[in-house]
Amino acid sequence: MKFTKLSRYFVAFVVFSVLCAQSGCLACTLSNRAGAQAEQKDWWQTAQFYQIYPRSFQDSDGDGIGDLKGITSRLQYLKDIGVTAAWLSPIFKSPMVDFGYDIADFYEIQAEYGTMDDFRELISKANALGLKIILDFVPNHSSNESEWFKKSLKRERGYEDYYVWHDGKLDEDGKRIPPSNWLQAFRGSAWEWREERQQYYLHQFAVQQADLNYRNPAVVEQMKRIIRFWLDQGVAGFRVDAVPVLFEVEPDENGQYPDEPVSGNTDDKDDRAYLKNDLIENRPETIDMVYQWRQVMDDYQRIHGGDTRVLLIETYAPAAYTMQMYGNRTVEGAHLPFNFNLITVLKQGVSASYVQLAVDEWLKNMPARRTANWVIGNHDQRRAASRYGVQRTDAMNMLVMTLPGASVTYQGEELGMIDGEISWEDTVDPAACNSNKDIYENFTRDPSRTPFQWTAGTNAGFSNASKTWLPLAPDYQTLNVDVENSSANSHLKIYKSLIELRKSSKTLQDGSYKYKALENNFFALKRYLTGEDTLVYIANFGNDTSTVDLQQDFDVLLPAAMTLTISSLDSTKTSGSEINTKSLSLAAGEALILSGPAN
Ligand code: GLC
Ligand code: MG
Repeated sequence: MKFTKLSRYFVAFVVFSVLCAQSGCLACTLSNRAGAQAEQKDWWQTAQFYQIYPRSFQDSDGDGIGDLKGITSRLQYLKDIGVTAAWLSPIFKSPMVDFGYDIADFYEIQAEYGTMDDFRELISKANALGLKIILDFVPNHSSNESEWFKKSLKRERGYEDYYVWHDGKLDEDGKRIPPSNWLQAFRGSAWEWREERQQYYLHQFAVQQADLNYRNPAVVEQMKRIIRFWLDQGVAGFRVDAVPVLFEVEPDENGQYPDEPVSGNTDDKDDRAYLKNDLIENRPETIDMVYQWRQVMDDYQRIHGGDTRVLLIETYAPAAYTMQMYGNRTVEGAHLPFNFNLITVLKQGVSASYVQLAVDEWLKNMPARRTANWVIGNHDQRRAASRYGVQRTDAMNMLVMTLPGASVTYQGEELGMIDGEISWEDTVDPAACNSNKDIYENFTRDPSRTPFQWTAGTNAGFSNASKTWLPLAPDYQTLNVDVENSSANSHLKIYKSLIELRKSSKTLQDGSYKYKALENNFFALKRYLTGEDTLVYIANFGNDTSTVDLQQDFDVLLPAAMTLTISSLDSTKTSGSEINTKSLSLAAGEALILSGPAN
C-alpha cells in the first residue's frame, strides 16, 4: 500500500510523543527547561533571604536564650513580611565559645536550642507556610571538645590527621616555638600546643576552634556526609562559614610552614591584620572544594528531586577570588557567594560614590549569567542602621531590594534596629574577650547580637527570663515589631512594601539596570524591561537637602513626571503623587522609588 511507510512513521511518532510526555525524555525536557529558563528564574535568583541568629530571635522556655521552638513560633512573622528563605546561624551541639561556630557534634542539635524533633517540627511548619530553611555549615573547624578532636589528640586510627598538627620549631635558645608566626582571627597565635600529642594544632579562629585538615580525604568525605545528612532533614541549602580559610599553604620541603610577611596595616602584633595572611587565606584548593560541595548538592537533587538546594558562601575576599566561587564555564560553584561590598566598601565612608564603587565591584566582575546578591549586615558586623546612619535605614533597604539579584536581610534590619550597648562586663564574644577593657569595642560583635525586639513588654517579648544572654538594646520600647506594625508608617511597613514590589515587578526580577552616583551625593538606579514599568531608585546620601535633575544628570529617557511608589519614612512626599524628575529635592537620607511607563 501506498501509505504504509508513511503511516508507520506516523505511528512511531505518536508512540514517541506519548513516551516523551510520560517519561519526560531528555530531548523534550531540555527544550522545556531552556524555554522556561528564559521566562522564569529559579526561586533563589529573586529570593529575599533572611538571617536568623537563633540565640537572639525568640526564647520559648524562659532561659534567656533563643531556641528552635521560638523560631517555629515566629515563622508566621517571616511569612507576613514576605521572606522566601531563612538561614540560621549554627544550631548544632557546641560549647558555645564562639556561640555555635565551635561545633562539637555536627549531627546533633544544641540542647539549649532544642531537639531533633523540634528541628523537624520547624522544617515541617516552615514548609507548610512555603518558607525555606537554610542551615549554617561550618566546614573549616570543629570544637576542640568534639570526639574527632579527642581521638586526634590520642592519634586514634583514622583520626591522626584530622586536624593540622605540627611539631613546631626551635628558636636560637633551643626553646620550642610555634611552627610559624600565623595569627588567629581573635587575637594571638594561630597555633596551640598540646602536651598529650607533643604537637601544635592550627586554629584560624579561637583556640577552641581547631582547623580541620582538608588535605585528608577522610575529612573531605566526613564533611560531605554532613551536607547529605541535613539535606535528608529537608533543608533548602547551606550558608557556608569562613570559606576562604579552608586551606593553608603546604609545608616546604623541610616540612616547615613559611611565616606570613607583615602587612604594615597596624602596629598591634596580636591583631590578625598585622600580617598579610596570603598563605592562610584565599588558596586555590578552597575553590575546588566549593565546586565539590555543589556537586554533592546537585547530585542530591538529581536523586531526590524537589526545588534547587542552594549554596551561599561566606567570603570576605578580593573580587578576583570571590568570583571564582560562582564556578566557571565548565563547572558550577556556589549559587551565591555573599556580596559584602556594601558593608566593606562603605566602611571607608557612606556616600553615593562609595555605593557606586561597591555596586561596580560586584556587577563588573561577576561572570556572565550569574546572579548578584546584596548584603548590608550580619552577626559579625555592627547593625546596618548604626553603621550607615539611622536616617539612611530605608535608603539602604530600598537599595538592596531594587538592585538586580537576590537580597539578604539580617534580623532586625527590617525594623531599623540599632546596636545594643554592651559593657566590658557584659561582652561575651571571644573577639572582644581576648582583648581588653580599653579596646574591646573595636572587636566586639555583641552589639548586633542583642535580642530581637518584638514588643515593648518584658525583654521586648523575646524571653520571660529574668536575665537574657545579652542585654536588650535600650530603645526596644519604642522600636519593635508591635509598634511598627501598628503605626501608620514605619521601617517595617516600608520593608514589606519593598518585598511586595519585588514579588510583583517583572522589571525588578528580570529587568536591565543602569546606576550612577550623581552630584551632591545622590545615587540613582534605573531598572527597565520591555513592556514593563520602569522603576527608579533615588537617594540622597549627603547630610543636606539637595536638588537633582534626573533627566539631565542621570537619564534623558526618563519622563518629566514619575509616580512615587515607595518613600523613606521621613519623606514628606505622598505616595502615588507625581514627582517632577527635572527638579527633585530630597532631604538628607531621603530615598524614593518612582515608577513610570516603559522606556
Ligand atoms: C564566620 C562567622 C563568625 C565566626 C567565624 C568562625 O566568619 O560568621 O561569626 O566567628 O566564622 O566560625
Ligand atoms: Mg530558650
